[in-house]
Amino acid sequence: MSANDEFFRSKKAAAALKHGILKRYPVVFASKTGQGNPVVFLDGYAGRGEYEGGEPGSPLLLSRCAEFVQGFRDVLAFFVEQDPDSFANLEQVLRLKGGAVQRELRQGSLDQHLPELLARAKGASLFAFLDPFGPALDFDLIKTRLLGRPNWPPTEVLLHFSVSSVARMGRAVYVAAERPGGLSDSDRRTAARLDRFLGGDWWRSYFAEVTDTGDEQRATDVALRVAERYARDLTQGSAYQAVQMPVRPRPGLAPKYVLALFTTHGEGAWHFADTLGKAGVEWEEAWVQDQIRRGEHSANTLFGDGPVFDAEQYKAENAPRWSRAIERNIVEILNQRRQVRIVDKVPEVYGEVLGQAWAPHVRQAVKSLHRQGLISQPGTGDFWKEVVWRP
Ligand SMILES: C[S@@+](CC[C@H](N)C(=O)[O-])C[C@H]1O[C@@H](n2cnc3c(N)ncnc32)[C@H](O)[C@@H]1O
Repeated sequence: MSANDEFFRSKKAAAALKHGILKRYPVVFASKTGQGNPVVFLDGYAGRGEYEGGEPGSPLLLSRCAEFVQGFRDVLAFFVEQDPDSFANLEQVLRLKGGAVQRELRQGSLDQHLPELLARAKGASLFAFLDPFGPALDFDLIKTRLLGRPNWPPTEVLLHFSVSSVARMGRAVYVAAERPGGLSDSDRRTAARLDRFLGGDWWRSYFAEVTDTGDEQRATDVALRVAERYARDLTQGSAYQAVQMPVRPRPGLAPKYVLALFTTHGEGAWHFADTLGKAGVEWEEAWVQDQIRRGEHSANTLFGDGPVFDAEQYKAENAPRWSRAIERNIVEILNQRRQVRIVDKVPEVYGEVLGQAWAPHVRQAVKSLHRQGLISQPGTGDFWKEVVWRP
């Protein structure tokens, strides 16, 4: 069974977070950046359009966003898919279920169709979603051709960094390099693939601490550090910042991938974190349902005798903890400096509750700190754009 067949057979819980973002964030992006200029949504690794069970894939979710905003924005959705069979499926799914939106579909590689896309997106704001299997992206393509576009209208890239593949491939290359005889041809190809993805061979030294082939946990930790350096390298020398969200199949398991948004605007980071939190509720529901389906959890032991997953109960039970964590993070930031704008420090403000909490929980935290006399900002209006002082 190919990676494609396996992937589209059923939607995994880890995909729920990605799709929770794609349901919401492109609408915010188009609303904020598309006043007076067109908007382009690119799905560069589009896939089949939907899963075998009929759940929408990224192309249908982006199409729905385009449909929603087209009443007030000039929007084009551009899809690229390399595999001919998946492309045929994608065409059909979009024709039947993709709505009456302006769209272009291209069969082939993203690399091949990028020049046309960039020409069509000239003068438009661009939201690019890049979701390949494994470490298949090209560092230079992203850094130079996407993030290197003029600053206005804005370009944002949301990409999938496969932690599990980088861990597996990076460790394999390191272990092979240490063996007598060194790298085989196949190891060399793996290394070249990672070099292209990560923009150099610097990652090899990161894996030096993974001592044997069974050292999975450590390889994952290393891959997460590699993901951080990758984001730093992509943003270095530019106005971009990255908001990175490690995505796990369920709590307690190692992250499978990191979803990273590259944006030049604090507002982009703010709204992205907000949608991450909302999507986090869907992720929570997806992994709980998954466990119940496999018989590894009974609904009753988790959430009483009521519905299998009660989103309202989940939110009510966790909101106080989320707001307390955010309070602590704001205090920590203000210990380093006397003032801050939340919009300039979004990942730090959310900290460990990124992907769980969202905007109202930040507001709660700010209000609480204000009540305690610890900050100047009362948490009203667009508090997140304003300066917060430590009196
Ligand atoms: C993970 S799947 C996409 C899933 C989809 N984004 C979703 O959420 O429903 C990755 C897809 O990228 C396609 N692909 C692989 N290499 C590609 C390339 N160079 N350019 C465009 N598509 C490619 C694969 O055939 C596969 O269908």
